[in-house]
This record gives sequence, structure tokens and C-alpha cells, in this order.
Amino acid sequence: MGPLPISSIRIGKIEDVQELIKSKPNKVPERFIREANERGLLVSLKTHPHQHIPVIDLSKLSEPHTHDDHLFEILKLSQACEDWGFFQVINHGIEVKVVEDIEKVAKEFFEMPLEEKKKYPMEPGTVQGYGQAFIFSEDQKLDWCNMFALGVHPPSIRNPKLWPSKPARFSENLEGYSKEIRKLCKKLLKYIAISLGLNEERFEEMFGEAVQAVRMNYYPPCSSPDLVLGLSPHSDGSALTVLQQSKNSCVGLQILKDNTWVPVLPLPSALVINIGDTIEVLTNGKYKSVEHRAVTNRERERLTIVTFYAPNYEVEIEPMGELVDDETNPCKYRSYNHGDYSYHYVSNKLQGKKSLDFARILN
Ligand code: OGA
Ligand code: NI
Repeated sequence: MGPLPISSIRIGKIEDVQELIKSKPNKVPERFIREANERGLLVSLKTHPHQHIPVIDLSKLSEPHTHDDHLFEILKLSQACEDWGFFQVINHGIEVKVVEDIEKVAKEFFEMPLEEKKKYPMEPGTVQGYGQAFIFSEDQKLDWCNMFALGVHPPSIRNPKLWPSKPARFSENLEGYSKEIRKLCKKLLKYIAISLGLNEERFEEMFGEAVQAVRMNYYPPCSSPDLVLGLSPHSDGSALTVLQQSKNSCVGLQILKDNTWVPVLPLPSALVINIGDTIEVLTNGKYKSVEHRAVTNRERERLTIVTFYAPNYEVEIEPMGELVDDETNPCKYRSYNHGDYSYHYVSNKLQGKKSLDFARILN
């Protein structure tokens, strides 16, 4: 989510999805209708009786490092990162009130009249503010989603004009929430380092003053959910992503596993964590940044609050020496500056795992 210059690209008229369903509840404009092969077919849960993303218990990871519970959970974590790139974390220690408070102001924000939300516009070619990101042409299909995104940390990436004055406690709640999520990311990175046999401070030392951004995604109901996508397939450019689904959320997030879209079933008070492109590169592909997307629901809206945690823009990224072996596991990615990667990521449309082509060494 690096700052981008305001450009003069033509992206056509982008209809606000909430306004659209108010005026024409049963109409899905052409620009939202996906090609047959990308449609968000609602996967029947019955067809995936055994496929669930792993659940990691943070309280067990926090046990003394010699304790069986800790060791077992580290093993589970390493399998989750290797096989799934996704897991849900329970007993994460973030107070219920903090989680509820951010959800409340996010919901209130999206429920405000459009005129109010338009005071914080996401300009074409930028990724902060209210609107749709990743749109770069007039014929590009649109996601069935309204987004509000903000850079949070370090303060230099903030655009204070985009921090809303309404709802009243929005900024205060976002600050409180972001502090807690930052602590959680630091803890998780420590355990991820341990699971790789590395010094537990390895990522923290490498990342410097980590960059943190938040995106709130609001998916209104859609009369033809099978024709549209809530969010196009993509991997995240971050190191780690933390996704909070609103209370009693319906299923919406799907991840691509063995060529099948597997739904992530919301667990009460769990947070969904996924490995971003940066950790994939650093681990030379051992831990995967898995492609995912969001689908919509015919009757119910869905709200997610997503935090992207990444190294400082100054940091040079390349596969870590410990995870490269010229004979058995050759280096799969070139080295690059993380700021350049962020710029590349936000200046291209979301398209599966294509963004990582930036770094992939092709043999
Ligand atoms: C994202 C994302 C999924 C969701 O914002 O990067 O993958 O369910 N969101 O909102
Ligand atoms: Ni994502």
C-alpha cells in the first residue's frame, strides 16, 4: 500500500455497490458480471467435508518453549504455513471489546450516506480512501464490494485527510485496534521464525519499522451472487495478513487449494491469518502466499477488516540463506527492494499470483 502519484488514468464510471442495490436491487450491471470461468460459484460446503484451514491456538504457542503444547502447536503452525498458507488463530488475547469496537465503527462508516463517505475518496491510481482499488482501465471488471483503506504505520504513510471525523470514535478505535494487531503480528512472526528453525527475532530485525495498513471491505448482498465476485483472486503483497470477519459473518472468503476453491468457515472470535508474498520469498517458497478471493451472498452483507503487515519500504528482500541450497533447493526469487515491490503490487490489477512474477526467477 505504498503512496502512488495521482495519475490521470481512465477507469470509467465506478458505481458504488451500496447505492446500486438501493436503487436497483435486482440488477447486476454488465461491468460486474464475470467471465464464466471466473464466476464466484458458491461452493457447496458438503463437497468439502474434510477441507478446513488449520486452527492455531496462540495460548499454546505462548507456553514455555520446552513444553509439549508449545512444540506441538509450532509443528501445526509450520504445516499450516506450508500446506495452506492460511490458518485461523484462536485465544489470540485481543480483548473482545477492541474487536467489537472496530467492527462497530467500520459498519457505521459504510452505513453513512455516500456524500459523507465521498469526503475521503480513493483517487484513481491510489490505494487509500473510500472506493475501489486496483482499477486501471475502463473495461476492467469490478468487484461487488466497497472498500475503505488507510495507511496506519509508520506515521509517514498516513494521509490524515482520509481519516474520517465520523463516526466519532473511528480514529481512536482504529488506533487501539492497530496496536493490538501489530503486537499479534510480531508474536506470530516470532513463532513462524521458530517453526523454520530460525532465531525468533529474525523477522523483527530484518523488517525494521514495519509498515501496517488496513482495508475494510464491505460486501453488500447480491441478487445474482453466482455472476459476480466480491473480491478478485489475488495473493497479498504483505508479510502477514490478519483478517477479521464481522460477528456472525456468512461464508465469503475462499482459498485456492489443489485447484479447488475452499471456503473459510468463520469461527467465533478467531482471526484469519495468511502468509503474504514477502514470507513466500523470504522462505524461498517453503511457506506459501496462497491465492484467495471473496464471494458474495444473496441475502446478507459481509464486512471484513483486513490488516496488512509488511517490512519497511527500505528493506531489501531475498530468500534467506538458511532456506536456499544450490543443489537441492535453488533460489527461486531475486532480491528486490520492498518499497519497489509494494509499488508494483498496487499499480497492477489483482490477478491471482501474478504479482510475484516481479521476483520469480524463471528457469
Ligand atoms: C483482502 C482479502 C478477503 C475478504 O482484503 O486482501 O483477501 O474476505 N479479503 O474480505
Ligand atoms: Ni487478500
